[in-house]
Amino acid sequence: MFKLAHLSDPHLAPLPAPRWSELINKRATGYINWQQRRRFIHDPAVLAAIVTNVNAQSPDHIAVTGDIANIALAAEFAKGRDWLESLGSARDVTFVPGNHDIYVREAARFAERQWSAYMSDDDGVAGFPFVRRRGNVALIGLSTGVPTAPFLATGWLGAKQLAELAAVLNGLKAENVFRVVLIHHPPISRAGRQKRLLDAPVLKRIIAAHGADLLLHGHDHLHMINWLDGPKGTRVPAVGVPSASAAPGSDKDAAAYNIYRIDGAGGAWRCELISHGLASSGEVAQQKRFTLIG
Ligand SMILES: [Fe+2]
Repeated sequence: MFKLAHLSDPHLAPLPAPRWSELINKRATGYINWQQRRRFIHDPAVLAAIVTNVNAQSPDHIAVTGDIANIALAAEFAKGRDWLESLGSARDVTFVPGNHDIYVREAARFAERQWSAYMSDDDGVAGFPFVRRRGNVALIGLSTGVPTAPFLATGWLGAKQLAELAAVLNGLKAENVFRVVLIHHPPISRAGRQKRLLDAPVLKRIIAAHGADLLLHGHDHLHMINWLDGPKGTRVPAVGVPSASAAPGSDKDAAAYNIYRIDGAGGAWRCELISHGLASSGEVAQQKRFTLIG
């Protein structure tokens, strides 16, 4: 049995003080949004309680699907590195970036410099998609983070990454591994067009052609389960978690994370989902447990 933990969108707070020179273009509107609204939602004490609870479960691996940063200030990436290390080593933790991590053009460089150990393949090679094998699980990391205009939070995989993803999923079919796709933006979402993954239709076609066993995402800050078409009438669960730092009382779900207990073999996988979240008492507690696959 392989125990995989999934959390997302920690949006580390407090935000480091920006330099004036950093508050141009998109960061300026993002900073106002942070000061007026988001800083009241993303609570470091909530995130600390979630991380303590995740670590107490002793998962075999932890997947984090993006948005460590808020407006991609240089200082957010060093803080992000410390936070990733608080979860575990790069061997035991995998990260894929979200739109807030690649908020402006220079942020991709910051992410690469500080976090590449957590987003590279088994040979230490950075780039997307990357594949990591852990036990009977293959983790496939994608990046949907692209700099966008103010007020847009769209994602984009691009033709090159999508073509390589198709080849990766196809190649892994020959191995007896449970294929977990990690991506920030959900392939199916009720969020408005300004928040969507723009090339989601191509991603869904690739999964329909080559299959995957599980897709994990963040971005919408909600508990979500959608089923994607796989090959030959099969279905692939796409599961999203709320922000790991979300205090209760916002219009999104309060902080939570999911544990996946993966067992079995190709053609007969079993996967149980156990959800843990912030209860009204302020404690992190198990909320739901059900068989997702098998
Ligand atoms: Fe987010």
